[in-house]
Amino acid sequence: MKRIGVLTSGGDAPGMNACLRAIVLTAHANEIEVIGFQHGFNGVIEQQYQTLLPYHVSGIIQDGGTLLKSARCQAMHTTEGLQRVADNLHDLDIDGLLVIGGDGSFRGTIELAPYYKGKLLGIPGTIDNDVDGSDFTIGFATALDTALDAIDKIRDTADAFERIFIVEVMGRHTGYLAVAAGIAAGAEQIICPELASELDLDKITAHVEQARKHRGNCSYIIVMAETMYQGGASALAAALEQRGIESRASVLGHIQRGGSPVGADRILATKLGAFAVEQLIHGAHLMMAGEINAKAGLYPLAHTGDKKKQVDSYLLRWQQQIAQY
Ligand code: F6P
Repeated sequence: MKRIGVLTSGGDAPGMNACLRAIVLTAHANEIEVIGFQHGFNGVIEQQYQTLLPYHVSGIIQDGGTLLKSARCQAMHTTEGLQRVADNLHDLDIDGLLVIGGDGSFRGTIELAPYYKGKLLGIPGTIDNDVDGSDFTIGFATALDTALDAIDKIRDTADAFERIFIVEVMGRHTGYLAVAAGIAAGAEQIICPELASELDLDKITAHVEQARKHRGNCSYIIVMAETMYQGGASALAAALEQRGIESRASVLGHIQRGGSPVGADRILATKLGAFAVEQLIHGAHLMMAGEINAKAGLYPLAHTGDKKKQVDSYLLRWQQQIAQY
């Protein structure tokens, strides 16, 4: 293996730079050249790339975002686009491609396989943590801390006004971030797809009323996973107001994707980046480099979207139990 490519694709996640650094340093130690493509797969199509040398990645371990920029690539849904990606990779003599991204990026990578004769490997980088084959994805730990920092601040003002807040967190169609942030912030209620596929306004109202009966006027925070209510947190706040429950909405949004990666993300990113290069050298193909029980391992790329990974059921049960008090 002489030359490999790398790209960051889909929603950026804190730690992607740390991962790029580990990839470049590991490849360099093994005398392999690294080509970094910009803007995800678009950079392969548009031939936007640069050779990445150790000095390019020095001092970036602490940086949020991604040195290579990221994007979602519509052309990966077409045979022409896939062929173009493969042709350009062949023209550049890329022996293997590393894709740092989430579920959608991995699906594109699998689609590319019939067209490309090199090796393909994924590395899970998304704040959503919705990838099977790795306990955690790069960026999740930082996004959790960012959400927590915001919710703790919301708690202060909620306490001062004895108010109800609905805080909407990201996570795409899953509640990994919502559950983790809700538990760690001591939220009174968590609304996420793993607890109920549909949001039940009667139940939410009853929970709030019950809490106020037991504790009197008090702050009350509902952490809600995005996509759980048409119109988001503001629409839910309006619906609660119609039921006589005054509430405020706060959508945390893209701040959850930014910021300097926390230590856990830097370490995970370094481990998975280094491991992925080593595995490419050993011939791994159509696999994802993940970490389970603190051990790096390979997982079939085709199964990363199986949705087998569970949100912590013990904590979910406990949350439901205490939600009325
Ligand atoms: O996958 C990461 C993520 O931030 C999701 O949590 C969110 O649903 C989505 O990306 C937002 O995408 P965009 O930045 O394109 O609005």
